[in-house]
Amino acid sequence: MIQGAYPNTRPRRNRFDAFTRRLVAEHRLSVDDLIWPIFVCDGENIRTPVDSMPGIERVSVDLLDAHLAEAVALGVPAIAIFPITPIDKRDETGTESANPDNVMCRATRRIKEIYPELGIIADVALDPYTSHGHDGLIENGYVVNDRSLEVLVRQSVNQAAAGVDIIAPSDMMDGRIDAIRKGLDAAGFVDVRIMSYAAKYASVFYGPFRDALGSGGLLCGDKKTYQMDPANSDEALREVALDIAEGADMVMVKPGMPYLDIIRRVRDTFSMPTFAYQVSGEYAMLAGAIERGWLDRDRTILESLLAFKRAGCNGILTYFAVEAARLLKAQ
Ligand code: PBG
Repeated sequence: MIQGAYPNTRPRRNRFDAFTRRLVAEHRLSVDDLIWPIFVCDGENIRTPVDSMPGIERVSVDLLDAHLAEAVALGVPAIAIFPITPIDKRDETGTESANPDNVMCRATRRIKEIYPELGIIADVALDPYTSHGHDGLIENGYVVNDRSLEVLVRQSVNQAAAGVDIIAPSDMMDGRIDAIRKGLDAAGFVDVRIMSYAAKYASVFYGPFRDALGSGGLLCGDKKTYQMDPANSDEALREVALDIAEGADMVMVKPGMPYLDIIRRVRDTFSMPTFAYQVSGEYAMLAGAIERGWLDRDRTILESLLAFKRAGCNGILTYFAVEAARLLKAQ
C-alpha cells in the first residue's frame, strides 16, 4: 500500500458497528416528541374510515376510551382533537364553535375524565364549523380579518372552559395570538398555553384532512389570502416573530416534510419550542406507498419522524404517533 495514497480520515469508521453509531447519533426520536391528531364525531358507537388516509378513522366520543387507551399506555404526551361537524350544524359564521356542548368540548371533558394526564390540544379555526369551509368570516367574498378574530376568541375561551390545555390557532388571521391571549386571560385561563400555527402554508397536502372533516367539498375557492405562499421563507420568520411577540408559547410550521428548511430557520432564529405537523397529505403519501408494499412500514415511519428532529423540532404532530410509539418501545 502506497503511504499517503489512502485517506487518514475515514468517516466510515464511526459507522462501523451498531454501538458506535449509537454513540455518535446526533438526534433521537422519543415518545415525548409525539402528538397524535384524532378526528372525533357525534353519535354513538361510530367508527368510519377516512378513505384518503388508510388506517385512520373518525370515532364518536363514547369510543374515545378505547381509541386512546394504547396511546396513553405507550406514554404519548398529547393529542390534537379535530371535530367533525355535521352539515346541519354548520353556518356562515361558525356558530357551533362557541357551543359549550359541541363535539370538541364533549370530547375534551370525556378525555379529562378518563385520562386526566393526557395533554389536549385544540385547533382554533372556523373551517370545521362554517358552511363555506373557510377559517374566518366572509364578507363580499373575502375572508375578513378583524371580525373573524372576535369569533376565534369566543371559540378559544369555549375550548379552554371545557378543559383544553393548549389552544392551537390554525386560522392565520393577523393579530389572532394577541386577541386570543387577552381573551383567555380575561376569562381566567392564564395558564392555558398557545401553540400557534405560526407559519402555515396554503398547501395541497391538507386535502385528505378536509375529506376527513367533510369540509373539502364545501370549500369555496382557496385559502391563499390568509395561508402563506409556498414560495416564501423570510415571510415565515416575520410571521413567527409576530406570534411570539403576541404571546405564543410554542410555534408550529405546517406542512412538515416539504418545509423542513423553514423549521430549521425558525428554530435557529428564535430558539422557541418548535413543532411541525406531518399533515394528512404527507401521511397519505407514505401510508399509500406502505400499503402497496413500496416502502417498508416501520423504517418509513421512524425515518420520516427523525428528519423532523434533525430539522430542529421539539415535537411532531403525526397520524403515525401511536405506531411510532409502539416501534420506539420495541427498540
Ligand atoms: C384547519 C386545519 C387544517 C389542518 C389543520 N387545521 C386544514 C386547512 O387549513 O385547510 C390540516 C391538517 C392536515 O392536513 O393533516 N384550519
